[in-house]
Amino acid sequence: MFGRAIPIATEERNLNATAQLAAAVVPAAGRGERLGPGAPKALRELGGVPLLVHAVRALARSRAVGLVVVCAPPDGVAEVVGLLDSHGLEGDDVRVVAGGATRQESVRLGLAAIPADIRVVLVHDAARPLVPVEVVDAVAAAVRSGHPAVVPAVPLADTVKRVEPQLAGAPEPVLDTPDRSTLRAVQTPQGFDRAALHEVHLKALTEETSVTDDAGLIEHFGGRVVVVPGHEEAFKVTRPLDLVLAEAVLARRRATDGY
Ligand code: CTP
Ligand code: MG
Repeated sequence: MFGRAIPIATEERNLNATAQLAAAVVPAAGRGERLGPGAPKALRELGGVPLLVHAVRALARSRAVGLVVVCAPPDGVAEVVGLLDSHGLEGDDVRVVAGGATRQESVRLGLAAIPADIRVVLVHDAARPLVPVEVVDAVAAAVRSGHPAVVPAVPLADTVKRVEPQLAGAPEPVLDTPDRSTLRAVQTPQGFDRAALHEVHLKALTEETSVTDDAGLIEHFGGRVVVVPGHEEAFKVTRPLDLVLAEAVLARRRATDGY
């Protein structure tokens, strides 16, 4: 698959064809409720191509990645296999498994499909279709250099306040204003030592812990997580306006880089 999507000389592929390469888990089983009615979010189109296809290609562009495991909507596995196939993303280096009811469950099911000899795992949202390859490479390199949990992140543009949540529309009392210079908005791919990530996912299942990102699980169980620079184009398509922005970024890339 990767050879076809992004041509790489045969000798280089052979050099890379070892367990040194990272495997990427791509949770793509969400419904995309905040994006509004329509197909599951990962299958919605950006520039005529499904978000999921963009995300898998973004990972495949990295020489550090040798396998992608896509976690499809549980009732959409065959559809996702067909979709990837029709975009030239088939073969030994892409697998599709059924995802779960939560992102965390989807990732756990994806992890279970990774061969035992793989040491580095990246977890990347299908909903971040435009992540630059430099971010993928940097995260994988940081894990390889000995950091068991690595997240890409960017500084915040807005000041953030902690509030006492109230019913929708009611004024919310402010508790405090964290120092913005210490805050980061985290993105994906997040990178992990495979054994460390596997362990916290199993513990979380036993203890019924739930968090919104994989690094959060490592933190919850006392592990150390480091942040590396993310990229503004690695934003997550969550609401309709994000899709407008993503279309604009893609159009600019196609005009300037022949993307
Ligand atoms: N995800 C998943 N399995 C789930 C829920 C989410 O694999 N049960 C995936 C989504 O497909 C997405 C990523 O996790 O690629 C990030 O989640 P999010 O942006 O919240 O996507 P959705 O859950 O689809 O959107 P929403 O929360 O608006 O319904
Ligand atoms: Mg969600």
